[in-house]
Amino acid sequence: MNRVDTLELWLGEKRRAIDAMLNSLLDRQPAGESELDAAMRHALLLGGKRLRPALTLATCELAGGEAKAALAAGAAVELVHTYSLVHDDLPAMDDDALRRGQPTVHVAWNDATAILTGDALLTLAFEVLASAPELEGLPADLRLAMVRTLASAAGHRGMVAGQSLDMAATTADAQPNSNAEALATIHQAKTGALIRASVGLGLLAAGNRDASLAQSLDRYAALLGHAFQVVDDILDATVDTETLGKPSGSDAELGKLTYVRLLGLDGARGEAARLCDEAEALLEQVANSIRLRQLIHWVRDRSH
Ligand code: IPE
Ligand code: IPE
Ligand code: MG
Ligand code: MG
Ligand code: MG
Repeated sequence: MNRVDTLELWLGEKRRAIDAMLNSLLDRQPAGESELDAAMRHALLLGGKRLRPALTLATCELAGGEAKAALAAGAAVELVHTYSLVHDDLPAMDDDALRRGQPTVHVAWNDATAILTGDALLTLAFEVLASAPELEGLPADLRLAMVRTLASAAGHRGMVAGQSLDMAATTADAQPNSNAEALATIHQAKTGALIRASVGLGLLAAGNRDASLAQSLDRYAALLGHAFQVVDDILDATVDTETLGKPSGSDAELGKLTYVRLLGLDGARGEAARLCDEAEALLEQVANSIRLRQLIHWVRDRSH
């Protein structure tokens, strides 16, 4: 069996475990307002590649931790990520009608429900970190570090900052001043920050206190997250809507600043390869990092 097959098997198994955890987190909630509950399930459970929680699990495995805590922590990241998608698709942002192969929440319901669904997913993530029984065995300082890591990755110095810069760079006026450095900042924030948190939470779930390992893997995750968004830009310009499960060509239609726009397709592919090579080189110093290495190849070569 080659490496790709073993990663696909591993990912399939982890995705089932992640989906079961996400289902169970929603089932544990007392019955609430039914429209909001239905919209949360629609956004969270009907698809998604689950890369972020898979990274949390792979990192926790690397550091010798148990899957239980990593599943809860990874689910918290997936909740934040899914909220970011629901809001990203709103008419005031990217105005997209399809996500994970389904109508977006504002299309299936309405804008107010989509805003509130995002709010509910985001806050549930922190409720999970604070009170999921799967995290009970973890020392309080590490659990607090999980909250801090996810909050700062999601917030006004992380994903939200990146989304704000992305929106500002969308206007035609911003294009002449745009450069690779500005675009790198956007991608590292809007996408890299949550991918770094996914890896960081995996280490915390394993009880890791080795600062040098944390530093190496944080750098790995920053490169991987940046590459992930460069590939997202390439896929938007090259892959059909059905395969993507979201509208193809959305970036060009909106005049987004992307790597494809800035460097052309070949330039963007070269940048993704460079970032992935750099991430892979970093792992040479890290023991038991085979899954993380395979995940770089998966990010680089993915079709959707
Ligand atoms: C889409 O993320 C948004 C970006 C940060 C590029 P994914 O491509 O991971 O979306 P899902 O979770 O698989 O739907
Ligand atoms: C969004 O980037 C990243 C988020 C923080 C949601 P995009 O706007 O390119 O993501 P897609 O292509 O809609 O998934
Ligand atoms: Mg966007
Ligand atoms: Mg978008
Ligand atoms: Mg995109």
